[in-house]
Amino acid sequence: MIAGKLQSQPSQLFSPKGAILTLSILTLISFSYFSFKSLGPPLPLSPSTPQLTLLPTTSSAADTVPSHAHVVSNEKENNVDEGGGDDEDGDLFTDVYHSPKLFKLNFEEMERKFKIYIYPDGDPKTFYQTPRKLTGKYASEGYFFQNIRESRFRTDDPDQAHLFFIPISCHKMRGKGTSYENMTIIVQNYLDGLIAKYPYWNRTLGADHFFVTCHDVGVRATKGVPFLVKNAIRVVCSPSYDVGFIPHKDVALPQVLQPFALPAGGNDVENRTTLGFWAGHRNSKIRVILARVWENDTELDISNNRISRATGHLVYQKRFYRTKFCICPGGSQVNSARITDSIHYGCVPAILSNYYDLPFNDILNWRKFAVVLRENDVYNLKQILKNISQEEFVTLHKNLVKVQKHFQWNSPPIKYDAFHMVIYELWLRHHVIKY
Ligand SMILES: *[C@@H]1O[C@H](CO)[C@@H](O)[C@H](O)[C@H]1NC(C)=O
Ligand SMILES: *[C@@H]1O[C@H](CO)[C@@H](O)[C@H](O)[C@H]1NC(C)=O
Ligand SMILES: *[C@@H]1O[C@H](CO)[C@@H](O)[C@H](O)[C@H]1NC(C)=O
Ligand SMILES: *[C@@H]1O[C@H](CO)[C@@H](O)[C@H](O)[C@H]1NC(C)=O
Ligand SMILES: *[C@@H]1O[C@H](CO)[C@@H](O)[C@H](O)[C@H]1NC(C)=O
Repeated sequence: MIAGKLQSQPSQLFSPKGAILTLSILTLISFSYFSFKSLGPPLPLSPSTPQLTLLPTTSSAADTVPSHAHVVSNEKENNVDEGGGDDEDGDLFTDVYHSPKLFKLNFEEMERKFKIYIYPDGDPKTFYQTPRKLTGKYASEGYFFQNIRESRFRTDDPDQAHLFFIPISCHKMRGKGTSYENMTIIVQNYLDGLIAKYPYWNRTLGADHFFVTCHDVGVRATKGVPFLVKNAIRVVCSPSYDVGFIPHKDVALPQVLQPFALPAGGNDVENRTTLGFWAGHRNSKIRVILARVWENDTELDISNNRISRATGHLVYQKRFYRTKFCICPGGSQVNSARITDSIHYGCVPAILSNYYDLPFNDILNWRKFAVVLRENDVYNLKQILKNISQEEFVTLHKNLVKVQKHFQWNSPPIKYDAFHMVIYELWLRHHVIKY
């Protein structure tokens, strides 16, 4: 009897167990089936792009078929009539993106859902809430502060928020002549206040918080709060690894010197007769070498001294219109407004840098519209640029014109501009943390 009972138990236990096992295998199979089916051929996403977050959108069969068909028909249109077509997103489906379809789908989901809470604390007359100005080298910081308030992404309800914005302006601190030590103290006190008053920081030690700074003093200013650097998302113009920039967590903010003095360049290949151009301060090793090696060259127009932007008749800017490749060596930081100047004026940037997590690198394929080189390539620079055929140059130039909109700030912001691209990068990162 006892033996019989014991014997029957395993089989009784086994069948529900077996059912659960079968069920979970089936679930797994159908889940992977849908995931593979919806993702299609492996898409070249960088490690910082969370692929799984796309599943809810793309694996719903109803959505996938029509939008896929839409995508294909757009691609065809685009091949026939480049740059034409009346679909405002038509030119999205080009190879300047790593994954144009995912970008479009995810971008639309972001527009519908993304909500950001801005901490209301801090006197706007000091270092908080409002930008210093919307012009000059650090304009990107000012535009972000202004744009977020003008945008649909702002929410006044912290419970609706995916991310929390700490609105502290490092550029403004610098403008008021605050010492570095005091900056660190100011940021620390402000944040301690927020941490004590609101429950949001403590939930993830700041992982769903971000701050935005274009001025490189942001690095020093945030030293006093280790978790602000370690755990929160830093949106910075100077994404140098030597100041602790973490590519999959932090966001490279494009440094854009707005307003531009002259209109955007494009479709003006025939006027681009100079091979390469650079004029600037020799404030980094790579710039010193660049000037020393090429200063007397007849094909590379390398000026030993900076041409003041204020010099009569916009001499500096006009050179961008006449050049094929604008040389962009890093200065005191890896970034430089010269890159976005080049993009604006239709001059293909030739970037000389050993490490630079270029803005929107995980969305845009920089090699389709720029020449990305290592610093050591400076010695072969002329041969490298001469080796690029006219045909390849024309392709780079055309692609450059397609990405111009991503490197431009507007007020109010418009779809696919620099603000929306930064917001999109934040949207990708919010999937990584979920409270
Ligand atoms: C730094 O803060 C102290 C104390 O608030 C103040 O006395 C001093 O003037 C500040 N220094 C600068 C350069 O801002
Ligand atoms: C968050 O944690 C810190 C440190 O433990 C504590 O001092 C603070 O009061 C907490 N904040 C809230 C709102 O509970
Ligand atoms: C090329 O330069 C000439 C002279 O400056 C100008 O008139 C012409 O419009 C330029 N062509 C293009 C396509 O920009
Ligand atoms: C460039 O020309 C100047 C003046 O002739 C000369 O002193 C300098 O050494 C030259 N530089 C190089 C790299 O040849
Ligand atoms: C330029 O192209 C030639 C021929 O393809 C090649 O041998 C040479 O290594 C290239 N030089 C550089 C600097 O890329």
